[in-house]
Amino acid sequence: MRFAVISDLHVRIDGLLYGLDTQKRLDDVLSDIDREAPDLVVVTGDLADCADLGSYRLIKERLESLSRPVYVLPGNHDDPVQMRQIFPAAPAVSVFSPGGYFTDAVETDEAILLFLTTTIPNTAAGRVSPEALQQIRHMRRKAICSQRALLVFLHHPPFRSGYIGMDACALENRREFLAAFGNVSPTGKTPSQKGSEVTAGIFCGHLHRPMASLVEGLPCWTVPSVAHSLAAFERSGAVRAAAAPPGWLRGTLTKDSLVCEFVEISAQPVFPIPFIPLRARVEEQALKVLSPANDHMSLRKD
Ligand SMILES: [Fe+2]
Repeated sequence: MRFAVISDLHVRIDGLLYGLDTQKRLDDVLSDIDREAPDLVVVTGDLADCADLGSYRLIKERLESLSRPVYVLPGNHDDPVQMRQIFPAAPAVSVFSPGGYFTDAVETDEAILLFLTTTIPNTAAGRVSPEALQQIRHMRRKAICSQRALLVFLHHPPFRSGYIGMDACALENRREFLAAFGNVSPTGKTPSQKGSEVTAGIFCGHLHRPMASLVEGLPCWTVPSVAHSLAAFERSGAVRAAAAPPGWLRGTLTKDSLVCEFVEISAQPVFPIPFIPLRARVEEQALKVLSPANDHMSLRKD
C-alpha cells in the first residue's frame, strides 16, 4: 500500500499568509502527489488558517481533483463543526462522539488506519479522548489478530520535539495515548518489545517540521508543512517560521516494512550522477595530479 500524508495547509482565501501563497503551495504539493498516484491520501490537520467555510470549500475542491480516497482530520486551527459541514462523508469527521471528539477507522487488506481528532476548543494544545484510547486498544487487537499494520493519524505528535514553544502546546495526555498501544505502562516505562507484534506507525502534523522519532517503541513521524515551516534550531521558546519549500510524506507499506520519505517540492534542477567505482575515481584523481595538463598546473604555466 502506498500512501501520502500532508499537513498544515493553513489555506487563506483572503491573501497571503506570512508572505506565502498557501493556495499555490497546496496545488504544488497535490500535483506532485498526483504524479505519484498513491492508493490514498491523509491530511493531518490545520487545513484552513481561519477555520472558515470558504477555505474548506476550496480545499475540498482541490483534494477531490486527486480522484482517490482522501481522509481529513482537524488540527488546532480548524473548527471540527465547520469542517464537518464541508466534509460530511470524510471518515475522520463523520463520527461525532458525545465527548466532542471525532474518531474513525478505515480498513484495507494491508492495514487498519485510525484517524483521531485531538483538538481542544480555543487552545493550540491537543488531547486524545477516552473513546479514542479505547478505539486504539480495540484496533490494535484487531490488527494483531488479522496480521495487518496499524497506522494512526492525529494532529498533535506524542513526543517532545525539543522546540520549547511547540512542546508547550503538544499532546497533553501523550502517556495515556502511548500506553493504549499496549507496549508501555502508564508510568512511561517500556517493559517489553510487544510493539513489534504488528507493524505500527504514527503520523502527525502540528510541528511544521519533518521529524522522525521512536517513542516508547513506536515509530512516529511529523509531516512537512504545506505552508510555513518551523525555523530550525529554535531553542529559545519563541516560535519562529521559515519560508522553506512545501513538502509531504510518502509512505510505502509492505508485508515486512514501513518505509517513509519526506518529499520536498523544490524548483532546484535535477541531474544524473554517473556511478563511478571508488577505485576508478582514485586513479582518475591521481592521474590529474601527475599530469602537467591538469588545471592547476596549466594556470601556473600561464
Ligand atoms: Fe499548523
